[in-house]
Amino acid sequence: MKTIRFGIIGAGLMGREFASAVARWCHLPQIGVRPELLAVCDKNADLLPWYKDNFPTIRLLTDDYCKLLSDRQVDAVYVAVPHNLHQEVYGAVLAAGKHLMGEKPFGMDRPANDAIMAAIRQHPGLLVRCCSQFPFFPAVQKIGALVEAESLGTIIEIETGFLHSSDLDPKKPLNWKRMIEINGAYGVMGDLGMHACHVPFRAGWRPRNVRAILSNIVSERPDGKGGVAPCKTWDNATLLCEMADPHTGQIFPWTFKSHRIAPGEKNTWYVNILGTRTSLRFSTKNPKCLAILQYDGREQNWSSIDMGMETAIPTITGGIFEFGFSDAVQQMWAAYLHELIHGQPISKFAGCVTPEEVALSHRLFTAALESHQSATTIAL
Ligand SMILES: NC(=O)c1ccc[n+]([C@@H]2O[C@H](COP(=O)([O-])OP(=O)(O)OC[C@H]3O[C@@H](n4cnc5c(N)ncnc54)[C@H](O)[C@@H]3O)[C@@H](O)[C@H]2O)c1
Repeated sequence: MKTIRFGIIGAGLMGREFASAVARWCHLPQIGVRPELLAVCDKNADLLPWYKDNFPTIRLLTDDYCKLLSDRQVDAVYVAVPHNLHQEVYGAVLAAGKHLMGEKPFGMDRPANDAIMAAIRQHPGLLVRCCSQFPFFPAVQKIGALVEAESLGTIIEIETGFLHSSDLDPKKPLNWKRMIEINGAYGVMGDLGMHACHVPFRAGWRPRNVRAILSNIVSERPDGKGGVAPCKTWDNATLLCEMADPHTGQIFPWTFKSHRIAPGEKNTWYVNILGTRTSLRFSTKNPKCLAILQYDGREQNWSSIDMGMETAIPTITGGIFEFGFSDAVQQMWAAYLHELIHGQPISKFAGCVTPEEVALSHRLFTAALESHQSATTIAL
């Protein structure tokens, strides 16, 4: 069993998800590599005792990420900090010679992403990947296998999206994800957008142009201090792209939605693909169900496959049991560690998002901002 020693910078919501996945690594008996938590950094000291209480391997708790990066025992770093810090912290991790798993959007805007990409090019020996866990749901792994096997026929259209209703309540106080100077001008696209790009980009499909409609539905919110503050970030983004498959030459429409105000949707990630031979629908709202229509020239019947724990990385969980968010997070981490020690992903769709895929999302979101502002279609 090989051990990779990790540091975490940003110990909030997602830092804890990673740590929890580490704590139950015994779930993955066949993987041959395990992460160990050595150091945790956060500016908020209140978050650190949870790590100290649950992880005896941790030897450094600090509010200074430079101290964490100077620990020679740390092999790899997970960074989960607000978007305005991505460029600085990702660059520092690479300069310290550590492997990096970074959170999306990998820089708050395109110049920041360009700087991160330049730093990555200077460190070709380090594995750099971006978090995006939903494709590790078993149904999405099956979709990936069908796409790879070219079972779909001619693609008619695709729809992907990530929908929240977390901001439906106008009295919810402003946090950093609603502040343009910290989240970035992409608004909801910077927060949720990469998740909706993962499957189409991994399939090799590329947007040629985009027409975007962006909505700022709640324009001010309580500031958490008794007052009211402007909320300038985009709440919802709806994009219509002309998509190309460079491999087959096919052109088809892609409807992309990243919405923070989607009534009835708590945390819904979905992918729908219509093909002339096979069509597929999956949503985390109904995580066991993969809807599939295979057309043989006669009837057009949707059928439903009841998915269990058919995971990319084998687990101890019984094959008929249900898969959930924290399982997807752990599978994603296992995929990262597999790639770190073997030099390649387990399979095409069981690989974490690459820096090149994130850079493409920045080109798309930058074009989407321009499209909305000019009310025109923008070429990528
Ligand atoms: N993969 C996913 O599903 C998912 C979900 C939510 C958020 N995210 C991403 O994760 C990242 C963090 O989001 P979050 O929801 O965990 O936010 P969060 O606010 O819960 O955590 C961020 C943490 O960073 C800390 N921090 C701020 N400045 C710091 C500094 N200079 N040094 C060290 N720590 C510092 C904050 O104190 C905070 O605890 C973002 O990039 C976000 O887009 C990903």
